[in-house]
Amino acid sequence: MPYENILVETRGPVGLITLNRPKALNALCAALIRELGLALDAFEADNEIGAIVLTGSEKAFAAGADIKEMATKSYMDVYLADFITHGWEQVTKCRKPVVAAVAGYALGGGCEMAMMCDFILAADTAKFGQPEITIGTIPGAGGTQRLTRAVGKAKAMEMCLTGRMMDAAEAERAGLVSRIIPAADLVDEAIKVAERIAEMSRPVVMLCKESVNAAFETTLTQGVKFERRLFHSTFATEDQKEGMAAFAEKRTPSFKNR
Ligand code: CAA
Repeated sequence: MPYENILVETRGPVGLITLNRPKALNALCAALIRELGLALDAFEADNEIGAIVLTGSEKAFAAGADIKEMATKSYMDVYLADFITHGWEQVTKCRKPVVAAVAGYALGGGCEMAMMCDFILAADTAKFGQPEITIGTIPGAGGTQRLTRAVGKAKAMEMCLTGRMMDAAEAERAGLVSRIIPAADLVDEAIKVAERIAEMSRPVVMLCKESVNAAFETTLTQGVKFERRLFHSTFATEDQKEGMAAFAEKRTPSFKNR
């Protein structure tokens, strides 16, 4: 289907979604969020796709929720529409891995959107921040929660209270991003990483993602127990048999996603 605010392509087994509202630095207006949800749903349903890359432009992954669109909303407008939750869930609900490839600004809802992905690859130009406080509000798409879990209370609190941005080097040191990549290579490298994930057994990848995510919702004892159950369940897959047989036979496994 034609999209107006995003570009959608497939690169082999990888679904690539590029946020594309250059005039507003990819500000996340309602129409963009709707389109992003549709594109993610389509990749989720597509058996040929094993992983998804979400990226923006060289200048901005996304400069936040659309300030001009929300500026005049009333409390009842945002409450009744469950503003900022509704429509964003597809990123966190997606069972296939979603890699954020961030260059330039990832601010406010842009930083929150990147943090909703499974991990962030950052260009050396990336800048992360939660500047909502400077426009009289607070992060509304998980920023105070996910940033705090990612970088710890001191940095998260300072960033949320002052709006200070973190550059790519600081973000990597703090554990917000998994790696820094030269800006010119960012998308190609993100696609390579996603291709690597897509080579693995699809159901086992989903189980693995679910298990890592459980670490944020459970105690250690519960999490380890949950992991053990999922680990055991991989032994019910044909792909575990294939993977281990291939290792013993010194050949590349041929996973069937079963
Ligand atoms: N919403 C709507 N429009 C935005 C926008 C946003 N979040 N960010 C940038 N734009 C628009 C600008 O208004 C401008 O449009 P015009 O040319 O029509 O004036 C265009 O994008 C280019 O922006 P700038 O001229 O400001 O570009 P710059 O290079 O001088 O500055 C910037 C870049 C520092 C990112 C600056 O644009 C900025 O501060 N943006 C707002 C960042 C922000 O506060 N984000 C948080 C939003 S609230 C939120 O996200 C809530 C939540 O938790 C979900």
